[in-house]
Amino acid sequence: MSVRINPSILAADFANFESELGRIASADLVHVDIMDNHFVPNLTFGLGMVERLQAVSSIPLDVHLMIDDPDRWAPGYAELGAFSVTFHAEAARDATALARRLRDIGARAGIALKPCTDVEPYLDLLPEFDQVLVMTVEPGFGGQAFMGETMPKLARLREAVDAHGLDVWLQVDGGITEDTIVIAAESGADTFVAGSSVFRGEPAEQIAALRAAASAHSH
Ligand code: DX5
Ligand code: ZN
Repeated sequence: MSVRINPSILAADFANFESELGRIASADLVHVDIMDNHFVPNLTFGLGMVERLQAVSSIPLDVHLMIDDPDRWAPGYAELGAFSVTFHAEAARDATALARRLRDIGARAGIALKPCTDVEPYLDLLPEFDQVLVMTVEPGFGGQAFMGETMPKLARLREAVDAHGLDVWLQVDGGITEDTIVIAAESGADTFVAGSSVFRGEPAEQIAALRAAASAHSH
């Protein structure tokens, strides 16, 4: 199974996004965290910034919406050309309708689950999605510690995806390092978001190290 490494620019220099994107050119996608200070207690950026990132990035955008009312706002990110748009299950009014709308526009549709959100109610919806994001920290801030207790949820998703022969990427986000990426890969993840661990060091080296660690332990 091929693995994907998606650096989160939440950990990049906000005054120099264009040059920061150049430092992660070997990544698969760039993870863009949208926070509205309502769904999570932090604020980042919105459509205007994503439009500029889309214009200057050589790699596709993986947009993670940590916002209220994604039913209203998510399609706009797809219309800008984001490769994937992931919204939170806890915030959506009609997850299926929203996923279909995103796919109709041409984006991959993703659904994200906070650490305490049960996965069982969403298993029947898997065919409606291109990826599921299992949050491995409470959404809102970078630099938090990986929550290993979320791994049974990931394993359950891997089992369901494989049992039905679905092509759904399983993404983890939060506290991913060279050590924790092994745990997540063994539990069934194939797509890995990493902020602090990529931008703290030399990004190209960090991306290569994460990729090697995940590939050696992926299913
Ligand atoms: C947290 C964000 C993450 C964050 C991860 O709410 O969704 O994408 O950037 O940062 P690290 O890798 O530092 O935990
Ligand atoms: Zn994220």
